[in-house]
Amino acid sequence: MGGSSGQYQTRLPPSRILGGMDTTIPSGSSKGAQVGRERCPTGIEALDNILEGGIPRGNTVLVAGSVGTGKTTLTLEFLIHGAERGERSLFFSATESTPKLVENMRSFEFFRPELVTSGYLMLVDVPVLYRKLGLTHDEMRADEIDIFLKTVDAFLTESRAQRVVIDSLTSVAYRIQREERVRDFMLRLSEILAAHDCTSLLVSEIGPQPARYSLRGVEEAIVDGLLLLGNARRHGDILRVLQVIKMRGTAHSRAQYVVEMTPIGLLLAPHLKGGISEEG
Ligand SMILES: Nc1ncnc2c1ncn2[C@@H]1O[C@H](COP(=O)(O)OP(=O)(O)OP(=O)(O)O)[C@@H](O)[C@H]1O
Ligand SMILES: [Mg+2]
Repeated sequence: MGGSSGQYQTRLPPSRILGGMDTTIPSGSSKGAQVGRERCPTGIEALDNILEGGIPRGNTVLVAGSVGTGKTTLTLEFLIHGAERGERSLFFSATESTPKLVENMRSFEFFRPELVTSGYLMLVDVPVLYRKLGLTHDEMRADEIDIFLKTVDAFLTESRAQRVVIDSLTSVAYRIQREERVRDFMLRLSEILAAHDCTSLLVSEIGPQPARYSLRGVEEAIVDGLLLLGNARRHGDILRVLQVIKMRGTAHSRAQYVVEMTPIGLLLAPHLKGGISEEG
């Protein structure tokens, strides 16, 4: 695809984006129209109903959950839905390689590989990015945090992304040892995402019986919203559950919902209390 007028050619090195594929991004809807409390539908119907139509545009939301609770799947569905609506969608993956992510997305009936090849759905491999930027120390120093954040900022500028996922925030914050630096990192990241008017999901990996929703606890205080994924046991089965803990700008239910992962996406149903106990 070439740079005909009306199309946007990102200048990001192709190797940073999935498989060096064509990164031409057709022009989407105007970003200027997407401010205020307009909603950004997740595409997960029941969740959008709980959230009065979706996440308030521009909000940064933590998606917290223990292993295998569906964090990546939920965030991928959010981005596929956005890309399908013509919103540029950017996934920073620190936990899974980009080819593996594409394989995961194929389990959705509604996933079309053209969303990736056309550049609407952009996948960035964070370990590859770290190597390119020379961020190789076990502990991220202040100057390295600065380089990382400036690179994220540049990606958002170049891609004009409207939806962003970082999977996971934990794996990035893990390398920032000092709490005050984590706070500073979170504040700056939130500012960058807000400045670009992105609606963002930041994945937080937590234990099954967490005392908090993020690695250091400061992350959950800074974000606008918090979705909690977990497990619940019923008659010997382990069910996946989801709860909206907070969402600024929205009057929402805090009830727990049972999540079913299906080829048509995540389905939510109110949980029937009898026989369920929390597993975290
Ligand atoms: N479309 C689907 N239909 C049915 N099951 C699915 C679907 N997508 C994912 N799963 C199942 O859900 C599991 C967990 O999904 P996912 O990888 O999203 O969880 P996660 O919370 O991101 O896990 P991790 O903590 O390992 O990153 C997968 O291992 C897979 O078995
Ligand atoms: Mg995951």
